[in-house]
Amino acid sequence: MERVRVSFAGLEVDFVDRDRALSQVVELAEKGTFPVYVVYGPEGCGKTAFLRQTKAVLERDFGYSVVYANPLADKLEDVLQYTLTIKDVVRDVLGAFPEPYSRIVDVAISIASRVLKSFSRPRLAVLMDDIFQAIGVDKAEIYVKTLLNLIEWPPASYEKIVVLVFSSEGVTRFKVGRHSWATLRIMWNMNREGFKQLYDALPGGKPPFDDVWRLSGGNPRVLERLYRSGWSVDAAIEEIIRERRIKALAKMWGGDLGEVVEDPDYLWDNYPSTKNLIEDLIETNLIIEIWDRDPYSWIDDPPPERDLELGLGRFYAWQTPLHREAVRRALKEVG
Ligand SMILES: Nc1ncnc2c1ncn2[C@@H]1O[C@H](COP(=O)(O)OP(=O)(O)O)[C@@H](O)[C@H]1O
Ligand SMILES: [Mg+2]
Repeated sequence: MERVRVSFAGLEVDFVDRDRALSQVVELAEKGTFPVYVVYGPEGCGKTAFLRQTKAVLERDFGYSVVYANPLADKLEDVLQYTLTIKDVVRDVLGAFPEPYSRIVDVAISIASRVLKSFSRPRLAVLMDDIFQAIGVDKAEIYVKTLLNLIEWPPASYEKIVVLVFSSEGVTRFKVGRHSWATLRIMWNMNREGFKQLYDALPGGKPPFDDVWRLSGGNPRVLERLYRSGWSVDAAIEEIIRERRIKALAKMWGGDLGEVVEDPDYLWDNYPSTKNLIEDLIETNLIIEIWDRDPYSWIDDPPPERDLELGLGRFYAWQTPLHREAVRRALKEVG
C-alpha cells in the first residue's frame, strides 16, 4: 500500500504506521459501511492525516470515487477534495451554491448524491472530517441521518458505499451514539512505535524520546507543539492553558479537578456527584470517556487498559498528558 505525504511540523513526511486502522479501511472498502461510521478521537491524534491516507487507498486500490470535506482546514484547497473522475459533478455543484465554501458539508452531500445519479453503479466514499463544529453540534444528528439516507435510500443504485465521519467534539458520543444511525468507534493517539518514527523525522537536537512520549502520550500535534516551541514544555503548557481557558475550570472545580489529575477514573468512582465536572471536561476536549476496550470499538489499536503516567484510566482518559499538566499548573496558579 502506497503511503501519502502529509505535512508535519513544517516538513513533508510519509504517513506512518496506523497499520491496523488501514487494514480496517481495506475491510470497509470491500464490504461498504452500514450504518454510518462515526469515529471520535482526541484533537491532534491524527484523524485528518488518516483520512488523507484513507482517501488515497479507496481511490487507488479500490477504485472509489471519493468526496472529502474538512470545513476547518487551514488552506482552502484542503476544505474540499475529490477524485478527479468526478470533477465535472463537483464543478456543477460548486456552481449551484452561492457561497459553496461556507456550506461545504451540504456541498459534499450534494456531490455524493449527484455522483450516484451520474455514474452507473459507482463505488462512492464520503469522508467528513471534523464537520460537527462547522454545522453546529446541535445539527450533528440530523446530518448523520442524512448520510445514512444516502446509504439506505440512494437516489440511484451503487456498487458500494463508504461513509466515514470523524470528529474531535466531545459531545459526539451523546449526540450520535444514542441512535442506530451510526456505529461509533474511537481512535486514540499513536502507539509508541509509530510515534517514534515521527519523533525521528524531526531535525535538530531534541530531548530523549521517553520524555517526549511521557508528555505527549503519542499525540502528534503535541509533538509538533513541543518542537515548534523549541522543546519548551512551559511554553506549550501555557499555550494550552490560554486556549482552553483552563484557569476558569480550575477555579470552578478546585480539589475535585486535582483528583482527576491524579487519576481520571475518580470521575467514574464518584459518579454521579462528578456529573457536571465530566460534562465540562468532555466539552472542553480535555478528557475522553472510554466505554470499552474491545478492539472492535476502535479504529487502530486501543490504548493500554490503565496507565496513570499517561493519564489513562479504565473509564476516562486525559486526551494527552500535556493537557493534564496544563490543568495541574492552572490549579496551582489559582490555588
Ligand atoms: N500517521 C501519521 N503519519 C505522519 N504524520 C501524521 C500521522 N498522524 C498525524 N500526523 C501529523 O500530525 C499532526 C496532527 O495530526 P492531524 O491529522 O492534524 O490530527 P487531527 O486531525 O486528529 O486533529 C499533523 O501535522 C499530521 O500531518
Ligand atoms: Mg483534523
